[in-house]
Amino acid sequence: MKTYKIAVIGGDGTGPEVVAEGLKVLRAAGEKFGFGLDLKPFDIGGERYLKTGEVLPEGTVDELKKFQAIFLGAIGHPGVKPGILEKGILLRLRFELDQYINLRPVKLYPGVDTPLKDKGPEDIDFVVVRENTEGLYTGSGGFLKKGTPDEVAIQTSINTRKGAERCIRFAFDYCKKRNSKKKKVTLCGKTNVLTFAFDLWERTFHDVAKDYPDIATDYAHVDATTMWMVKNPEWFDVIVTDNMFGDIITDLGAMIQGGMGIAAGGNLNPQGVSMFEPIGGSAPKYTGKNVINPMAAIGAGQMMLDYLGEPAAAAAVERAIMKAIKDDLKDMAAGKMGMGTSEVGDLVAGYVSKGI
Ligand code: IPM
Ligand code: MN
Repeated sequence: MKTYKIAVIGGDGTGPEVVAEGLKVLRAAGEKFGFGLDLKPFDIGGERYLKTGEVLPEGTVDELKKFQAIFLGAIGHPGVKPGILEKGILLRLRFELDQYINLRPVKLYPGVDTPLKDKGPEDIDFVVVRENTEGLYTGSGGFLKKGTPDEVAIQTSINTRKGAERCIRFAFDYCKKRNSKKKKVTLCGKTNVLTFAFDLWERTFHDVAKDYPDIATDYAHVDATTMWMVKNPEWFDVIVTDNMFGDIITDLGAMIQGGMGIAAGGNLNPQGVSMFEPIGGSAPKYTGKNVINPMAAIGAGQMMLDYLGEPAAAAAVERAIMKAIKDDLKDMAAGKMGMGTSEVGDLVAGYVSKGI
């Protein structure tokens, strides 16, 4: 039997709770489709940091490199100053494991409420390919005369030809494989103001597009992108963009697909170790209450299965998610599902076992 070695980082807040439900569903899929999971938990996150002062213990990154994938809950703790855990854990893993793609599907499932009037599942089905290792996220910059009236703060956006090209190429390849009739890649940028960074992106985009004559290309400024995502989400198939814009537009994407309870993502290194996570965060106020919606974590598990080369199991998990959402969950928001976190996990795992 095939067995996948998976590193599990429950992390902070509701992370461990949703990860437990994701794993429940993954185990059910393994039994049904004949693969095993060799899981190793890693104690990383805000609690550990507060206890030991250690953000990411020495050697962790090297150890993580030995796994086939990482399943992550959430990073972020109300007792820790913003930035320490985010940069010290999440971003460090993305960078050091060179997970240069952040793949974020925006798909409205039937039965899920969207705040967009007159839009339904046929209109909201696209993916955002977010560059995940460059841009404003590299930590390049610094202060001058900090704390004085003459203070200067500089934070530089780093854009490399290699970084833009591998991201854009991934977007085109993904578009080719994706089950959509539109076959279109939209570059989301800001060529009218960021005339260096997005000049590089735009030239790279057109160069790469030549290798994909069957795929249509489009361009939208980031501000217009947010407008079209609300007004005409059906225009989009694959959106490719830089790290910062990708961060922003995928929160909007999560909202139009029904909220943080459902939005999943993958930090991908196609040549290395990838990491799958619900994109919502640690939701401290719901921690330990069995009220958080684990669907996003279950969806992250589905993405992980697909990525590991178990597409049939991934499709079965998606069918189970869709059935539970359509027939059983009252709402996608925490505390409003009509059942608890672990009951949602049981339900979806049950559907996978039954072969829905
Ligand atoms: C995300 C999050 C992270 C990001 C934070 C927690 C650093 O918002 O995954 O979108 O900005 O990338
Ligand atoms: Mn974000």
